[in-house]
Amino acid sequence: MRITVRSGQLTQIRDGVLAFGALEGERKPEQLLPDSTARDRTLVKLINGSGLRGAANETAFLPRGSQWILAVGLGKTKNLSLERVRQFAGTAAKSIRAHGYGHVVLPVLRERGLGDAATVAQALTEGALLGLYRYDKLRKVPTHEQKKRIDAITLVVERSGDVAAAKRGVEKAQVIAEAVSLVRDLITGPSNLVTPTYLANQARAIAKQHRLKCTVIPFAQLKRQGFGGIVGVAQGSAHPAQFIVLDYKPARAKATFALCGKGITFDSGGISIKPSAKMEQMKYDMSGAAAVMGAVKAAARLRLPFRVVGIIAATENLPSGTAQKPGDVLKTLSGKTVEVINTDAEGRLVLSDCLHYAKRFKPNCCVDVATLTGACIVALGAEAVGLMTKDEKLAARISQAGKATYERVWRLPLWDEYAPLLKSDVADLKNVTDTGQAGTITAAKFLEEFAHGLPWAHLDIASTAWTDKDKPYVPKGAVGIGVRLLIHLMENWK
Ligand code: BES
Ligand code: MN
Ligand code: ZN
Repeated sequence: MRITVRSGQLTQIRDGVLAFGALEGERKPEQLLPDSTARDRTLVKLINGSGLRGAANETAFLPRGSQWILAVGLGKTKNLSLERVRQFAGTAAKSIRAHGYGHVVLPVLRERGLGDAATVAQALTEGALLGLYRYDKLRKVPTHEQKKRIDAITLVVERSGDVAAAKRGVEKAQVIAEAVSLVRDLITGPSNLVTPTYLANQARAIAKQHRLKCTVIPFAQLKRQGFGGIVGVAQGSAHPAQFIVLDYKPARAKATFALCGKGITFDSGGISIKPSAKMEQMKYDMSGAAAVMGAVKAAARLRLPFRVVGIIAATENLPSGTAQKPGDVLKTLSGKTVEVINTDAEGRLVLSDCLHYAKRFKPNCCVDVATLTGACIVALGAEAVGLMTKDEKLAARISQAGKATYERVWRLPLWDEYAPLLKSDVADLKNVTDTGQAGTITAAKFLEEFAHGLPWAHLDIASTAWTDKDKPYVPKGAVGIGVRLLIHLMENWK
């Protein structure tokens, strides 16, 4: 993909399909379009004549002389935001591709307080690249589809003084979109391909590319070294578990982040087996691990001035003659024992070892990312990541990152009154409660037991890691959520 930035008037550009934004409900036709294009009377007439109302992501493909243009609804003026800009770019790029054209021309909208040229260019580029994402690794793509591909994007800034800033925005977006695409690939990849070993090899490849340190602790050593949480979950599987540590450590790092990821490459539930309906979706139970890998990769490529350590527990959760059974008691890496009431509550078991392991890095901030509970889907649905932390400042920072990236989070309480629900008669705690009440919160309370002393936040992405419907820059399937949120959080760390 070739992405270039040029300056001048959008209407004067001769190659590629020009995408214009159209605002909804602006009565005067000259106000239909943001920025200078509104002064082009014939263009305004053309778009008005198309019947386009300007509702968000509505499109009209229109002939203009010997050229095609695309008008894309931006929604109401008062709702104009960077998220609309991302959606605009995603919708435009996909629509132009669907019409069989290969070159997208997008205006860097500067008006109406959207932000500087770098910020808007980044949003446009992310929207376009992420919207165009496809997973074609495991099928023969029909020729007519193969031909439909975008190979050039041009961003147009009005003032030549904005070119440099826009270019910086584009570069950052390319790094981020590449990381998100990798995350989507890993999640979409089926569990017979994306095994724990595959994830470990992926981490090794990232380490090699970006000169990071990668340590993989194989199953045999996990057993010897007392990683009882991950070993308990892994012992039913024929694929050996992998504990992956991906460490980006720049000289003179200003702070250390520990990012823990749940990497269950397939969650059948284990002996407490899940119903078969939709079980195939459980390949996405490694979305937290994938997000962590993507975030470390992007952090390294952006040369963030922080140490970022990704800590990933990768294993399957399967029933077999060697699988753990309800009632079994594990000794986790922390020394705490856990009575496994339900083998399907496995994410918290593997994460308990990750969180305890994170302590050795003395992080200034530790965030775990996990498709942890079905209850989170019930509580928050597809629009919000569950956030749980007792650290007010960290909560505010993560919420802010969520707003900026539109990977929005919603906080649930971590009150201590929930803790007794996890009391066990035989071990230090049990892995599920008797009633199932507050399932997302009690899962986080379980994790908290292993995060003592860490400035820690938990992100439950069960409801947001996978989408059943196409969105402007998220094709249905793996969302790749987490990378943009974590990068924004780290970039703005002070
Ligand atoms: N991976 C699941 C949670 C999940 C469910 C994610 C559906 C995405 C979609 C997790 O390991 C799990 O099975 N949790 C159980 C916990 C229960 C046994 C307390 C759940 O949510 O049912
Ligand atoms: Mn489970
Ligand atoms: Zn799971």
